[in-house]
Amino acid sequence: MKTTDYLGLDTGNTKKVSDKLQNLLADFQVYYTNLRGFHWNVKGRQFYRLHNEFENLYDEVADQIDEIAERILMLGETPLHNFSDYLKKNEVKESGVVKSGDEAMKLVLDYLKIILAKERKIVELASEVNDEGTVDLITGYIASQEKTVWLIASYLS
Ligand SMILES: [Fe+2]
Repeated sequence: MKTTDYLGLDTGNTKKVSDKLQNLLADFQVYYTNLRGFHWNVKGRQFYRLHNEFENLYDEVADQIDEIAERILMLGETPLHNFSDYLKKNEVKESGVVKSGDEAMKLVLDYLKIILAKERKIVELASEVNDEGTVDLITGYIASQEKTVWLIASYLS
């Protein structure tokens, strides 16, 4: 039984959206792993605050990863789950060991810039094909990430 038989969406169009979501999933998985590295490896006088803040960020991203993967399933495709596949599709690159809180926060801004641009393209495509479910999901991420960008930019100023 296929969900796409019941959603009322054109399967050619859902495939286009799910392909973009696969790319976004790859970026989110690498972003998540980088955040865990920042949580573990950051050092210095701000350690407690930054250690906790990176945990808050990766907890949110973990939930979003699950939502993106399940959206891909709803659209009739199979989400990628191997890192070897993610590392062929990712635009957010793996970080090295980062000990400086400022450097880690600056990297988060760089990652969110990439992810926000990708999400805006997904919203545009999903809107064109009347895929409101994907529009709603990704629009919520954009609003939350824009707030994160504001908080980090303020922190670094
Ligand atoms: Fe921890």
